[in-house]
Amino acid sequence: EAGLHPAAYPWSNKGWFDSFDHASIRRGYLVYKDVCAACHSLDRIAWRNLVGVSHSADEAKALAEEVEYTDGPNDQGEMFQRPGKLSDYMPAPYPNEEAARASNGGALPPDLSLIVKARHGASDYIFSLLTGYVDPPAGVEIREGMNYNPYFPGGAISMPRVLFDGLVEYDDGLERSPWALGTPATTAQLAKDVTVFLAWAAEPEHDERKKSGIKAVILFSALTAISLYVKRFKWTVIK
Ligand code: HEM
Repeated sequence: EAGLHPAAYPWSNKGWFDSFDHASIRRGYLVYKDVCAACHSLDRIAWRNLVGVSHSADEAKALAEEVEYTDGPNDQGEMFQRPGKLSDYMPAPYPNEEAARASNGGALPPDLSLIVKARHGASDYIFSLLTGYVDPPAGVEIREGMNYNPYFPGGAISMPRVLFDGLVEYDDGLERSPWALGTPATTAQLAKDVTVFLAWAAEPEHDERKKSGIKAVILFSALTAISLYVKRFKWTVIK
């Protein structure tokens, strides 16, 4: 049974000429890190991908260094631990699928790198899922350990509601003024920001792609105009 059809939301990156909201990507990373990363990996994103998108190079380096990576073997053939570098990928919460399932009542939290593209409804679906936990309607039985969410196909999902008002403290107030508070972290705001972050993660080349597209359209229009002019000019003698 298909899930409830999500509403269509006005994402800033929706139109042909529109880019991602980069302040939202930055807040969304914080939500991913503080909440989702406890259960979900993000295999395809390296720390360097954040540079110039949501974070400065120094900030991304500092985030990478908070994580310990296993590297090696060294000259003695031993593995060793070292702080992360920009070229490292975001760490996974579990060493393998068995461990992931064991911690989630048998269910597997999917890697979130491409989830926005992989699910019908894309960003609208992810936002609706995260904000859509409600009590099951009368007559609907939900098994122990499962949760009711009308947007999830089938209605019963093993992921519980994870976003609540004030769960994350946004640090973006200081950018505006020394007295400003961060963006209010309502459930809807957290869900929106993490959805924008995941939409970017699924398509990190999105803004560049649209920019190149605009350039290509301008360039080829000019070339077409020039070639039409030259053609008419060259062939006037024949007429
Ligand atoms: C599934 C997002 C936090 C455990 C999913 C799915 C998405 C998602 C998009 C796929 C749903 C589908 O298949 O259509 C997120 C986001 C999170 C978050 C954005 C943070 C805001 C968590 C946390 C846990 C968790 C903290 C563990 C406590 C799971 C599990 C599934 C799942 C077990 C598989 C559900 C099933 O197939 O029944 N999550 N999640 N998630 N998530 Fe999360």
